[in-house]
Amino acid sequence: MVQIVPSILSADFARLADEIRRVEQGGATMLHLDIMDGHFVPNMTIGPPVVECIRKVTQMTLDVHLMITDPDRYIPAFIEAGADQISVHQEACVHLDRTLRLIRSRGLPAGVVLNPATPVATLDEVLDLVDFVLIMSVNPGFGGQQFIPGALRKIRALDQRRRQWNLSFKLEIDGGVNEDNLADVVRAGCDWIVMGASIFRSPDPAATVARMREIAREATPVRV
Ligand code: DX5
Ligand code: ZN
Repeated sequence: MVQIVPSILSADFARLADEIRRVEQGGATMLHLDIMDGHFVPNMTIGPPVVECIRKVTQMTLDVHLMITDPDRYIPAFIEAGADQISVHQEACVHLDRTLRLIRSRGLPAGVVLNPATPVATLDEVLDLVDFVLIMSVNPGFGGQQFIPGALRKIRALDQRRRQWNLSFKLEIDGGVNEDNLADVVRAGCDWIVMGASIFRSPDPAATVARMREIAREATPVRV
């Protein structure tokens, strides 16, 4: 079942608990948290104390996307704060194999993220070490940007690899997904679809999540 994963980046941070409750009402079971440090990306967001507060108001799976340099240094703090799964950028990890093993050694699913300019082949040596791959379909740093279509080719290539190599990692996409391109994203092979502005800048986020789930369900490819 394809999951719509709301990203709180475009939510009203002064009313975060209400915003989270809304997307939960719409049927979302995963919540995407963007962690930015002002170094790896040109923006800053939240750290472990806010994740800890979010943990107290929801049972949703907290999908923590680290857009920070030196992630190894902060991974333990995000786990303590209540992260359920953590993804790190290939571009931010000098010792990617070690970082992925670190996350898994703490009992959490580990994900690796690729920026738009980074080829899929750079992951070939770690695909058996990841629980999910996150393909950025915008340059990370901001919500509400335009979808970069090359991401679909990367999703298809990874979907092909996981079938050929008998692997079971999930495929996640992040950035610029909206009602118009959602079906294409699902058909390319995505399992988890992050949506920020399309949900939180809509008049009724609960209804929007429900509608996106329906579009995703109808577009899900049936493999024989
Ligand atoms: C961008 C973040 C995304 C962002 C996506 O750097 O990683 O998770 O929230 O937002 P939209 O869906 O608005 O492009
Ligand atoms: Zn993200």
